[in-house]
Amino acid sequence: MTDSATTPLIEAQGISKYFGQVIALQDISMRVSAGEVMCLLGDNGAGKSTLIKILSGVHQHDDGRLLMEGEEVKFTSPREALDRGIATVFQDLATIPLMSISRNFFLGREPTKGGGPFKRFDAATADRVTREEMHRIGIDVRDPSQPVGTLSGGERQSVAIARAVYFGAKVLILDEPTSALGVKEAAVVLRYIAQAKERNLGVIFITHNVHHAYPIGDRFTILNRGQSYGTFEKSEVTREEVVTMMAGGEEMDKLTAELEEFERSDRETERRGPNGGSHLADAFREDAEEIQHGEGREKA
Ligand SMILES: Nc1ncnc2c1ncn2[C@@H]1O[C@H](COP(=O)(O)OP(=O)(O)OP(=O)(O)O)[C@@H](O)[C@H]1O
Ligand SMILES: [Mg+2]
Repeated sequence: MTDSATTPLIEAQGISKYFGQVIALQDISMRVSAGEVMCLLGDNGAGKSTLIKILSGVHQHDDGRLLMEGEEVKFTSPREALDRGIATVFQDLATIPLMSISRNFFLGREPTKGGGPFKRFDAATADRVTREEMHRIGIDVRDPSQPVGTLSGGERQSVAIARAVYFGAKVLILDEPTSALGVKEAAVVLRYIAQAKERNLGVIFITHNVHHAYPIGDRFTILNRGQSYGTFEKSEVTREEVVTMMAGGEEMDKLTAELEEFERSDRETERRGPNGGSHLADAFREDAEEIQHGEGREKA
């Protein structure tokens, strides 16, 4: 194997990040290589977005090292990370709804024609390339000059991703690209992630949904309250184990104990009065068990 095949595209070594007194990340390590999908998992507030903001130049880390193709880096701006080939698609900021599909595609890197005072946006080229690139990922855009807001959520995500690939990204970071999407829409995005991997990009995929992560991920890094539960190859963990780690096993135990306490006091009430007997604790316990067993674990 050559060096470039073994050196990760991007690697975090013991990274920590503080916001004043808040320890957002503590001693986090992760890596992604070319042709690989790394899933970054964890509950709300676990530190997922903070970590990828460090990788994409929005934040700077306080401790640890960040390596890009084996060389230590500290990005001071998103532009710098982008120039190194790290493209990040943020869920809400992916596209500008009222602008055309092709304008969105070329945002910030518009093709021009003419020179001097006649220099202007080359709409024909933009439309043609956009149609071609979207076609390549299986989305037929009849009219690239229509507003991007007329596309479905999944298609819009795909425009943002296609754009990153077209402009030569090596690492593609996707922060919850499927969380607001229906089943079919999510499938569009997941299929596109598979294509990016085929094209030898390194993909960092953040999601709350283990059913989206597990089939496509090669490796899972699980964060919990700013700390890492570790990194697991797909061959090392089952889907159920990933779910339990995402929910935080201890938290679930605590919740179960609290619910049992509720139940005890319910039974007390029942014994004392005729209006006792709560189904609420039962319902909660069922929910907790369901979460623990990996059913319907979606972002609330
Ligand atoms: N700019 C900031 N200033 C202060 N605290 C912050 C800042 N950004 C994040 N935090 C804190 O850091 C922690 C991690 O937040 P982060 O957004 O990375 O979590 P997350 O895993 O992406 O969560 P979610 O799944 O809800 O998106 C949280 O406690 C959050 O309040
Ligand atoms: Mg987040």
